[in-house]
Amino acid sequence: MRASCLLSGIFAAASTVLASSHPKHLNYTVVTGIFQQDDPATNASGFDFIGSNFGLINRTYPSDYSCPDRTHATQWQRLAHYISSLNKKSPRNERYTLLFMGRHGEGFHNAAESHFGTPAWNCYWSELDGNATVTWADAKLTDVGIQQALRVNKFWARLIKDEKITPPETYYSSPLYRCLDTAKLTFTGLDLPRKSPFVPIIKEFLREGISAHTCDRRSTKSYIKQNFPGFKFEHGFQETDPYWTPLFAEPRDNQDGRSKAVLDDIFSSDESTYISISSHSGEIASLLRVLGHRVFSLSTGSAIPVLVKATTLNGDGPPSTTLPYAPQKTCAAPPAIRDASCNDCSCCV
Ligand SMILES: *[C@@H]1O[C@H](CO)[C@@H](O)[C@H](O)[C@H]1NC(C)=O
Ligand SMILES: *[C@@H]1O[C@H](CO)[C@@H](O)[C@H](O)[C@H]1NC(C)=O
Ligand SMILES: *[C@@H]1O[C@H](CO)[C@@H](O)[C@H](O)[C@H]1NC(C)=O
Ligand SMILES: *[C@@H]1O[C@H](CO)[C@@H](O)[C@H](O)[C@H]1NC(C)=O
Repeated sequence: MRASCLLSGIFAAASTVLASSHPKHLNYTVVTGIFQQDDPATNASGFDFIGSNFGLINRTYPSDYSCPDRTHATQWQRLAHYISSLNKKSPRNERYTLLFMGRHGEGFHNAAESHFGTPAWNCYWSELDGNATVTWADAKLTDVGIQQALRVNKFWARLIKDEKITPPETYYSSPLYRCLDTAKLTFTGLDLPRKSPFVPIIKEFLREGISAHTCDRRSTKSYIKQNFPGFKFEHGFQETDPYWTPLFAEPRDNQDGRSKAVLDDIFSSDESTYISISSHSGEIASLLRVLGHRVFSLSTGSAIPVLVKATTLNGDGPPSTTLPYAPQKTCAAPPAIRDASCNDCSCCV
């Protein structure tokens, strides 16, 4: 079908980025012991990333002895020095990069799912563009979602001023409205270095896992351009959504394949050490799987830092599978059941 043909086309394009006479591929691992979130003992549910300095662990690093003004340096300054020393010492095929991955604030689709209950949402309401009062196709942020993003904006302001964190050098976002708006609210008005202003690049493959839900269908490029004038589009970004297909869903293996492709694309074109990604719960879960990070679910408006070691290895990487999109069952009327036991729409009335 159409969507999967296009996907294999893009995979081929992404792998030619790394192709040469000697094939190479990128392999990712997480450097653990840096953030509480990378420790399997940390409870992800209700984790307070704002109250815990982004989860940064208070510790010494082997490079502390050479850290400038080390008696006054903050934990974030000593971490920056550590990452820089890892990058200086590493062989040419290795690099260390700190990713900040943020989930969008609450969108109208999140509020609607809570309102209707998951079975009625999945099997009926989510396939519509909205109801008489609310639109959830390419959902915008609710007031709650806007407040969540502004809270993270205050947090970044404090991290920059008091904790002397190194802010992102480059910014990427999903093309869905809720992420674009979250990124804008989060990073506007900060005291950012002149050489790395907030000019996000929109990447198709940072979008949410594609389901039959209209909240996974993106708007046109012209509409995005009109609403987010300072944002840039990756090369080849199409005017209309090439992937979302009514009543079909992207298999999880395809999603992990395109998460790997988008990371490979970023890591082979961007030399930044500090990178921000604005995305979704399902997509960040997929990126974490590709990076080899433990499962760590994010609530709306939450973010997670991950120190990544990327290694360029010889030979072709493991092949990525591209399965056909799976048809989705729906109900002709919303099922009355509220608990999530009905996740295959077998409870249609
Ligand atoms: C590749 O990454 C995986 C997990 O992310 C890791 O277990 C493995 O050791 C890495 N391989 C090499 C050769 O670096
Ligand atoms: C994790 O925290 C949640 C509340 O935030 C709690 O309900 C749950 O029992 C905790 N899990 C563990 C394993 O401690
Ligand atoms: C880490 O250190 C800071 C100040 O240096 C302190 O305020 C904070 O409570 C410490 N956190 C933990 C978890 O020990
Ligand atoms: C539309 O859905 C929202 C849930 O997000 C709900 O609050 C609202 O009452 C619904 N409107 C109508 C007319 O049913």
